[in-house]
Amino acid sequence: MSTKIHLEQYLKTTKAKGASIPIGLQELLIAVANTCTTLSDEVAQGALIGLLGSAGTGNVQGEVQQKLDVIANDLLIEGVQECKALAGLASEEMELPMPVQGTGDYLLLFDPLDGSSNIDVNVSIGTIFSILHKQNPIAALQNSDFLLSGRHQAAAGYVVYGPQTTMALTLGDGVVMFTLDKATGQFVLIKDRVEISPTTKEFAINMSNMRHWAEPVRRYVLECLDGVTGTRKKDFNMRWIASMVADVHRVLSRGGVFMYPWDQREPNKPGKLRLMYEANPMSFLVEQAGGASTNGKQVIMDIQPQDLHERVSVMLGSKEEIERLQSYHA
Ligand code: AHG
Ligand code: MN
Ligand code: MN
Ligand code: MN
Repeated sequence: MSTKIHLEQYLKTTKAKGASIPIGLQELLIAVANTCTTLSDEVAQGALIGLLGSAGTGNVQGEVQQKLDVIANDLLIEGVQECKALAGLASEEMELPMPVQGTGDYLLLFDPLDGSSNIDVNVSIGTIFSILHKQNPIAALQNSDFLLSGRHQAAAGYVVYGPQTTMALTLGDGVVMFTLDKATGQFVLIKDRVEISPTTKEFAINMSNMRHWAEPVRRYVLECLDGVTGTRKKDFNMRWIASMVADVHRVLSRGGVFMYPWDQREPNKPGKLRLMYEANPMSFLVEQAGGASTNGKQVIMDIQPQDLHERVSVMLGSKEEIERLQSYHA
């Protein structure tokens, strides 16, 4: 059997577009991975350590926080404090960004715990992270520094806490996956060129919202439901885990389309999912694996954010399906 490659080794030896990974970025990624290792252990214990249930507090998104939302957020903040290249961080769970070193090359944004509604029912959840290049590393951190499009990401990834704890990572030159070896505490490389097939017969969407969707999304899904005798001439299958991290992990693993589109329940909100913590990092991964992402009008990573907690309509996955969805929106 060939030797196992650990995350640390991988970061030290790999080249992204011909260049070595800067030490500051390596340190930051290791710090995030170590925190996720701790989180993975805690998630696995659940009720045994009193981790389930609501925290009784609310967040800036207008959501009730689960205990694990708060714990994951605190662990991540603590875990990256020593990272010398990290100027500051921002989280789904905090209204304002938080300075770390104040100056430095990178900004870290995260959804500390994705899939809150699945915590108490023992279904896969995860952590999503996005690392932006700070535009002026030596200038003191300002909140507006975070308002960069997804094109400014130096790295992005997620860790899914499922039957296995698996990390997907992109440094802008393809996508790799690591699985946590719980015996050694090391993330071990399991896939080094993740590719999403351009075609698929699988889609993921919360079907209970169908009556609220815009016409292009209704049309797309109804055509999928028509099956082999319909315009699409194939039988589609549907999967919905309700943790974006797990739904996107499936798309990266075997293709498919994930959608959380705008809907008319909240006509003035562009969507439910967050651009900076969810849509951008996932779009970076999907694009790097040969897939695509859109909000219907624009490629997600091209959107210039106006607000840290900005929301967005999300459709991502197999390229031909995303192109079809885009054409229905044109
Ligand atoms: P979060 O737990 O970070 O707030 O995100 C939840 C999101 C996302 O993970 C998932 O795709 C979606 O909410 C699920 O929404 P439904 O409740 O409509 O299924
Ligand atoms: Mn939330
Ligand atoms: Mn989330
Ligand atoms: Mn979350």
